[in-house]
Amino acid sequence: MIFESHAHYDDDAFDEDRESLIESLQENRIEYVINVGASMESTERTYELAKKYPFIYAAVGVHPSDTLPLGEKDMDRLKELVADEKVVAIGEIGLDYYWDEPEREIQKKWFKRQIELAKEVDLPIIIHSREAAKDTLDILHEHDAGNYRGVMHCFSYSPEIAKEVVKMGFYIGVGGVCTYKNAKKLVEVVEEIPLEHILLETDCPYLTPVPYRGKRNSSLYLPYVVEKIAEIKGVTVEEVERVTYENAMKLFLNR
Ligand code: NI
Repeated sequence: MIFESHAHYDDDAFDEDRESLIESLQENRIEYVINVGASMESTERTYELAKKYPFIYAAVGVHPSDTLPLGEKDMDRLKELVADEKVVAIGEIGLDYYWDEPEREIQKKWFKRQIELAKEVDLPIIIHSREAAKDTLDILHEHDAGNYRGVMHCFSYSPEIAKEVVKMGFYIGVGGVCTYKNAKKLVEVVEEIPLEHILLETDCPYLTPVPYRGKRNSSLYLPYVVEKIAEIKGVTVEEVERVTYENAMKLFLNR
């Protein structure tokens, strides 16, 4: 059984077949899904999906690129949503200096604010960090080094940084990128980080694994990621599925 820790089934890319696709997941061994909010709008849609499907859980939060219109009213809304037991994380939150908009001070402000919210309501965080390793780590250290529950999703940094965030309490999110030819750094991360600190994720509709790279992604392609991780670590696919499943259960569902 597979635990999908990061999907965006609220995305327009799924408008045509969302229902039939979601309904096919469990018969294809995708046992649980965390659908992740990226803006206030997608957070509301994520919440609706979690209310509709028993095996989908919600992460609520705002991606750094969507922080410009945020205000305290939105934080109040997030707080309202986390009262529901189907909401199990704050995310995705973080810093994105690849797109680099809005300005970094605004991204940082709302990253910090949402970390504080997560602590207040005692939920794990799902971090998006792209070309912003130093500021991300500084902010995390400032807040509560060594005492986090969460995941660094779509991990794109070095093995050294991976070790540092694992020490802080984070899991490393690994998806389709590990199957790409140019994924040398991520392959090294998977080699060096124990399976006990890795979560499976798609970030669908994006980052489709080989051999479907370029097509729309979905959790149905996670077995290709499992296979690649098993190959890198020299263990069976069953072992990869079982350990990453237990990791996600512990982090998100407290089981
Ligand atoms: Ni995402």
